[in-house]
Amino acid sequence: MTKRVYIATYGCQMNVYDTARMVELLAPLGFGKVQTPENADLVILNTCHIREKATEKVFSELGKIRALKLQKARRGDGNMVIGVAGCVAQAEGEEIRRRAPFVDLVFGPQTYHKLPDMVARALGAGATGVIDTSFPADPKFDHLPRSRPGQGVAAFLTVQEGCDKFCTFCVVPYTRGAEYSRPAMQIVDEARQIIAGGAREITLLGQNVNSYHGKGPDGEAWGLGRLIYALAELPGLKRIRYTTSHPRDVDDELIAAHRDVPQLMPFLHLPVQSGSDHVLAAMNRRHTADDYRRIVSRLRAARPDLALSTDLIVGFPGEDDGDFRATLALVDEISFAQAFSFKYSPRPGTPAALATDQVLDATKTERLVELQSMVGRQQRGFNRACIGRALPVLLEKRGRHPGQLVGRSPYLQSVHLAAAADRIGEIVPVTITGAGQNSLAGTIAA
Ligand code: 5AD
Ligand code: SF4
Repeated sequence: MTKRVYIATYGCQMNVYDTARMVELLAPLGFGKVQTPENADLVILNTCHIREKATEKVFSELGKIRALKLQKARRGDGNMVIGVAGCVAQAEGEEIRRRAPFVDLVFGPQTYHKLPDMVARALGAGATGVIDTSFPADPKFDHLPRSRPGQGVAAFLTVQEGCDKFCTFCVVPYTRGAEYSRPAMQIVDEARQIIAGGAREITLLGQNVNSYHGKGPDGEAWGLGRLIYALAELPGLKRIRYTTSHPRDVDDELIAAHRDVPQLMPFLHLPVQSGSDHVLAAMNRRHTADDYRRIVSRLRAARPDLALSTDLIVGFPGEDDGDFRATLALVDEISFAQAFSFKYSPRPGTPAALATDQVLDATKTERLVELQSMVGRQQRGFNRACIGRALPVLLEKRGRHPGQLVGRSPYLQSVHLAAAADRIGEIVPVTITGAGQNSLAGTIAA
């Protein structure tokens, strides 16, 4: 009989990638993926530690999973093994064991390749719980299955992981560890596997994806631009994206790739965090607002139809009204197709959490509301400007209504349209007829 594994994924796209890898690792043990936790034999929460809210969610979810575990045992339906993976496991492993002693497995982002062994130990007689939040010297990628079937039409591929930049607000250097770039040919090989399984689009992932410097077949360190040129040679790969990038690491070769590689989509997520130089310095971002403006204009010169997305933090320690106005001014000037904005959330172990000039929560809220109203206007404006245009849309999956499919525009907008399900995987020209805050509607152009 097959066993059932349920994995809940929180946080960034890299967690989505890691979840897919865990499913692949568990398949040889007889585990099949299920969509709800009620009857699962193994439940894993793949967690995010980026802001306080994300972390709190883990403990409240664990309470619910525990109730399901008890119900399952009462039904005489066997044991439910509970695991916590991801960045909360890495940062708060001991805390999880203390607050939720019913958790059987705790493991971080760099040790999930040992999952089959950990699960076997947890299922064994007299098992007392397994915790592995080490940072192995040997990269996990060398131990993951080579075959990658069933990744869908648009797939993720981790090329770089971890971070050495130490922005003062950020937990990532502590949860994901030091920067590591996979060898270029290992990535090209994985891309081939994913394409053979039906993918038409690949998003290259890294916490700092454009600091990629993996070893190339020529023995030299390849940058992300070089890697993109190589991936563009793969037959069947129609679209390439990458996320998340850092302004400091946008180099000439990457800009050239935006100019030269038609498969590289004209949409870039480039977090700026703040428009104030004083705040940027306190964040240890190592660039100014003008540096950001210059990078954007070089990118736009290389690829005039490039649309931009960004991340913004309001209420960073020491941010005064003038600093916040500088952020508004920058956002107004650049005009983003999409932007994610957050209230600064002090994270344990990060330098900014210790700053004495923390901003009042009420002030953070006020600033967030004002900023979100500006970026919301920009996003709606960008979407509305698409009405009447014919955009190439990659048909990705079925929509909510019968006969409806959902695809993606080059600018990563969801596009709803009527089409038969056997067209999933095609890129079709779609005339855009409607636009909302978060998605477009259209009809396939004749
Ligand atoms: N508080 C608020 N936002 C944060 N981010 C990262 N750390 C914090 C924090 N401590 C935001 C940044 C980053 C995005 C992924 O999350 O904007 O780019
Ligand atoms: Fe969350 Fe960052 Fe970990 Fe992704 S890398 S799961 S965003 S804490």
